[in-house]
Amino acid sequence: MATVAFSPAALRRGVCAPVPGGASSSRKQSGTIACGTTSTKPVGTTMLSKEPSKRPHPHRRRPRYRGTHPRRFEERYKELNPQDYPEAVERVRARGHTPAGTHVPVMVAEVMACLRPMPGEIVADGTVGYGGHATEFLKRIGSNGRLLAFDVDERELERTRQRLADAGFVNNVRFHRSNFAGIGKALMMEQLDGYDVIFADLGVSSMQVDDPSRGFSYKHDGPLDMRMDQRIRRTAADWLGELSEEELAAALRDLADEADAGRIARQVIESRAVKPIKRTGQLVQIIFKAKRLTRQRWRERAAEDQRELHPAARAFQALRVLVNDELSSLRHLLRIAPSCLRPGGRIGIISFHSGEDRLIARSFREGLQSGAYASAADEPIRPGHQERYDNPRSASAMLRWAQTPHVRS
Ligand SMILES: C[S@@+](CC[C@H](N)C(=O)[O-])C[C@H]1O[C@@H](n2cnc3c(N)ncnc32)[C@H](O)[C@@H]1O
Repeated sequence: MATVAFSPAALRRGVCAPVPGGASSSRKQSGTIACGTTSTKPVGTTMLSKEPSKRPHPHRRRPRYRGTHPRRFEERYKELNPQDYPEAVERVRARGHTPAGTHVPVMVAEVMACLRPMPGEIVADGTVGYGGHATEFLKRIGSNGRLLAFDVDERELERTRQRLADAGFVNNVRFHRSNFAGIGKALMMEQLDGYDVIFADLGVSSMQVDDPSRGFSYKHDGPLDMRMDQRIRRTAADWLGELSEEELAAALRDLADEADAGRIARQVIESRAVKPIKRTGQLVQIIFKAKRLTRQRWRERAAEDQRELHPAARAFQALRVLVNDELSSLRHLLRIAPSCLRPGGRIGIISFHSGEDRLIARSFREGLQSGAYASAADEPIRPGHQERYDNPRSASAMLRWAQTPHVRS
């Protein structure tokens, strides 16, 4: 298993993935770590039909909740139906929070400045997510350009397709339910000779992390799932049920620098002998026990130091990386990217922890040496102060880019 160090800052802030106190409270950070890619195995590209479905918005009853304000993700029915309640969504945004079921794109201006999408160009957005970057690409490439939008999450991909269609983007965008490792295969399907721009914004989206039913969050109890792609066979619960103590300890150490890897692994083995670990809440409890922490003690520590990482953050990250085989997907993308780009083509990748950034930096450096790339970023580009303030989930984002030579060697 590859040894990858994850910076505490990334773990603490975990841009595209932290789960700070619920669906719409991104101001206080601590959350689940994002930054995933998904298995390179199910690259089977499924193209979604071009025609957006007719979408009547059937009236849904407001869920009953206690008190005057909805607290749980599924109770935020106004935020979750933005087309019906635009003012409610704006109010949440104005408070500096991410409305439930949405995602604020990171470093949009920087991405556009580095990748310079031009009218008529062909762009691969490997992680279309909520479609924030995609919308900006579409505006710039115009009606003669083409955007191939990839995502492994079928449900979110369908919603984004509908959202982009509502915004008038239908003819120049094609959706592929596929791992971004499949961008080469998609070129053949679309009968294209290459991309002018390849972009990936690694990790999970706020929609995925904030929804407890997806199992990414240690803040809310839910099934221990963590699959971005429902075609992946093994959930986090399956991994926890199958790994040996040594394998689990190694994963916690290597994929998330967990200092108490051995103790957590031991506790998992002991607990699962009594009862299978199926819920995120169960795993959080096990981690607290392994770390000999009470919730009260943790709350006191967090109050003393706001930067204190949640005790379960690293273990959740390691599991998510395992479940989604994230590093394999990234390695695959980096390997095939130069041959998928046209002469003068640009690639940009946003990552959220040092392990991923190192892989990207090394690949671009080697590409420069071999002549696959003509230029590349020396240092990662980071969000400015204002963006980090407005969208704390952006805080650990790092953008790197590279460009192929104008003439094929
Ligand atoms: C951080 S979000 C992208 C947000 C997007 N840039 C936007 O502006 O809304 C990451 C998205 O990539 C998807 N994803 C993660 N790894 C992937 C992979 N290897 N292949 C395809 N999609 C992936 C996730 O399902 C998620 O929807």
